[in-house]
Amino acid sequence: MPPAALMDFAEMRQAARRRLPRAIFDYIDRGTEAETAIPALRHGFDSRRIVQRALCDATTPDMSAEVLGRRHPHPIIIAPTALAGLIRYNGEIGMARAAGRAGLPYCAATQASTRIEEIREGAPQAALWFQLYPWRDREETFRLMDRVRDLGIDTLLVTVDTPGSPKKVHNLRNGFSIPLRPNLKLGLDLLRHPGWTLGVMGRYWMTRGLPSFDNYPGEVRTAITRSVSDPRFALETDFRADLMKAIRNRWPGRMIIKGIQHPGDAETALRLGADGVVISSHGGRNLDSLAMPLSVLPEIRAAVGGRLLILADSGVRRGSDIAKLIGAGADAVLAGRAFLWALAAGGEQGVVRMAELLQDELRGFMAFSGMASLADLRRARWIDELPLWQSSPRG
Ligand SMILES: Cc1cc2nc3c(=O)[nH]c(=O)nc-3n(C[C@H](O)[C@H](O)[C@H](O)COP(=O)(O)O)c2cc1C
Repeated sequence: MPPAALMDFAEMRQAARRRLPRAIFDYIDRGTEAETAIPALRHGFDSRRIVQRALCDATTPDMSAEVLGRRHPHPIIIAPTALAGLIRYNGEIGMARAAGRAGLPYCAATQASTRIEEIREGAPQAALWFQLYPWRDREETFRLMDRVRDLGIDTLLVTVDTPGSPKKVHNLRNGFSIPLRPNLKLGLDLLRHPGWTLGVMGRYWMTRGLPSFDNYPGEVRTAITRSVSDPRFALETDFRADLMKAIRNRWPGRMIIKGIQHPGDAETALRLGADGVVISSHGGRNLDSLAMPLSVLPEIRAAVGGRLLILADSGVRRGSDIAKLIGAGADAVLAGRAFLWALAAGGEQGVVRMAELLQDELRGFMAFSGMASLADLRRARWIDELPLWQSSPRG
């Protein structure tokens, strides 16, 4: 189906499911432990309702958002995701190009399968950000940051919410792990999805070799069938002030700390000189029991609102979800899977389409609820009504 014919997140996800091998679909789609966090996020959004203002005109709401001194036409940012290049050939470049066309910032990941230099070159128009997973070796981390700085990228997101490997039984059962260990199940999975196997993996094989964490320096970069064994490039798990101050001192641009839930941590981020925070439960991918951003945002806004940029993510599928996160205290919102499904379903064009859909849905939500601007969403009356039904499969 052409991307223009896909109408919402659920249809994008469905189209992605047909195209992607099961192991990759599950890697993106699923959660951790008993996988209760993802339905809980959905339940949280579905339960929250807005009290409509009707005696007004909000038919053309102002959806623009101020993000660190720049006004963006929409409050949406494409979240950093590892290995997006596994979804489409040169997927990260396609994502960045689409972001440029749609007018959204795109945050490329440390664990991308395309070097940040190539993404920059392939999408010169895009507002590109970079997500940093600090490595154990500080000098190597600085070298990576310097490469990013030298490209003129001025916004660094430092992710601090993943101090270990989340428990994901489904990945192991599907044979999806890094290093990738080919097995019969994975082999059959690939045979059932020849479009992906030939069009993505086959093309890599023929041109640049199997995908890898391409931002890692040459001598440690390995295909996804081998693990990064050099301990200097293990992901840092100690995020105390010493490291964060060192990153702050080294990075001349805007620094945003991703993966904050506690107002005390938001205050620490402010003291450390961060410009913003991302309130996140990592899309329900790290720990089932983490709080939902929707629940913790009001306290964070009370603590640091107006002094720190407050971004939020996790579980965004529709424009109404974006409105609810902004209503709870976010200045703008990131979405991960929505754009990954779109990339799988329709490549660059699919991502542009997803951006349009989210914008249209947000516009509709604001018009129907009588909200003329994003600030109105924060002044609105919201109520939580527990739905007595299950979330519909259309999400
Ligand atoms: C497949 C996948 C890979 C991800 N990889 C990263 C990563 O490398 N770094 C990071 O900070 N967050 C990563 N995330 C988390 C996203 O940045 C974001 O917080 C999350 O996807 C938001 O939830 P959503 O997918 O429901 O929108 C990843 C998410 C997904 C789905």
